[in-house]
Amino acid sequence: MDKTSIHGMWSSRLMFILAATGSAVGLGNIWRFPYMASDNGGGAFVLVYLACIAIVGLPILIAEILIGRHGRVSPVNTLRGLAKESGTSRNWVAIGWLGIVAGILILSFYSVVAGWTLHYAWLYLKQLFGGAAITDPGATFTSLLSNPFELTFWHGLFMLLTVAVVALGVEHGLERAVRFLMPALFLMLLILVAYGFTTGHVGEAAAFLFRPDWSKIDGNVFLRAMGQAFFTLSLGMCAMMTYGAYLPRSGISIPRVGAAVALTDTAVALLAGMAIFPLVIAFGLDPAGGGPGLIFNSLPLAFNEMPFGIVYGLLFFGLLSVAAWTSSISLLEPATAFLVEKYGMASRKRAALSIAVLCWALGLLSVLSLNVWSDVRILDRDIMTFIEFIANDLMLPLGGMLIALFTGWALNNTILREQLSEMPEALFTAWRWLLRIVAPALVLVVLLRALA
Ligand code: PFF
Repeated sequence: MDKTSIHGMWSSRLMFILAATGSAVGLGNIWRFPYMASDNGGGAFVLVYLACIAIVGLPILIAEILIGRHGRVSPVNTLRGLAKESGTSRNWVAIGWLGIVAGILILSFYSVVAGWTLHYAWLYLKQLFGGAAITDPGATFTSLLSNPFELTFWHGLFMLLTVAVVALGVEHGLERAVRFLMPALFLMLLILVAYGFTTGHVGEAAAFLFRPDWSKIDGNVFLRAMGQAFFTLSLGMCAMMTYGAYLPRSGISIPRVGAAVALTDTAVALLAGMAIFPLVIAFGLDPAGGGPGLIFNSLPLAFNEMPFGIVYGLLFFGLLSVAAWTSSISLLEPATAFLVEKYGMASRKRAALSIAVLCWALGLLSVLSLNVWSDVRILDRDIMTFIEFIANDLMLPLGGMLIALFTGWALNNTILREQLSEMPEALFTAWRWLLRIVAPALVLVVLLRALA
């Protein structure tokens, strides 16, 4: 097995954890999780989501990291190498291709939403220097969505930030970015949770998020929760596999770092919920049914009333932009690494830029679906929601299921044991059966229901 990757290596275990947590913690936790919970029955959704993380997400996260660390290259080439080494079918390479396509689709709309957050951070920055307050948040949000030029500008700016980091490479780009951004993110989140506590509505928020109404759990809630579990842990599209490829061989237990990443990610989503819902409730808004505009429509109301509200607003949307940034770099990295391997080392900048331009152009579909093409419907959804549905709810679980089957059934036992040498036998066996049977069966049931 190669000791190092040609793309560079994380300099320590902590750096890997920061980078992988940076990938996991993003819009998925702070923008998507609260409104998914809001739209799908609060506690009922949260419970199913937590179960999906523990039973399906964590085992697949461990599998992705170990495949990456053994293969040491981009997903397509890693899977090709591992299939050969295990004497199994070459067709498993399809997982890598599926991942690359899913990553490009996700980055296309992810960057549009991240653009909204940049725009809001800018609005608060301007307010700090005397700019106009957001007095009618609904109108401000609608006016942003109805302006394709404005959306395209912020989407483009965010894509530029992403490509700048990835073009610089693993050590000088990715690692340098997460080293500062992740601690800043945790600090900002804690400040916001602390404020949530001062509103006096923490109990109601906790009841909404954690007290399940069983009657709300149906097939649809399962599908959304499973899709959210994959999305939030960055699973099923080989992002974690790619990060695993840059992980030093010795002294690092994959199950431990995997668990650290999954726990932190889940904690951030729950904390974000506990920062946001007390404010929503305090301002007399309904915590249920907020939709994708939940935080943009509700939080500015709170920020208007709060002491130092403008600073909080800036902090919050700054936090969200940073979280999105450290995730989007992991969406761009797998395809970039693949192009670098195909066309030679000198081309990292060109590789990253080509994929970013492609994602930016695809993102224009999402931009236009918010205004000019808002009437266009595919399978009952607007274009952006359709792309999100295909990539998040279908491709990620499918990719994850294939990764589970590949690791559980096709990968050579020696490779598994070598990668997981610190794992006690009983845990190893449990993990393997989760991958072989439990996770694929659950994902399959959910997918079949979705397509039925
Ligand atoms: N996990 C990210 C979030 O929660 O915002 C989104 C994401 C990043 C999904 C990277 C998939 C991925 F490969």
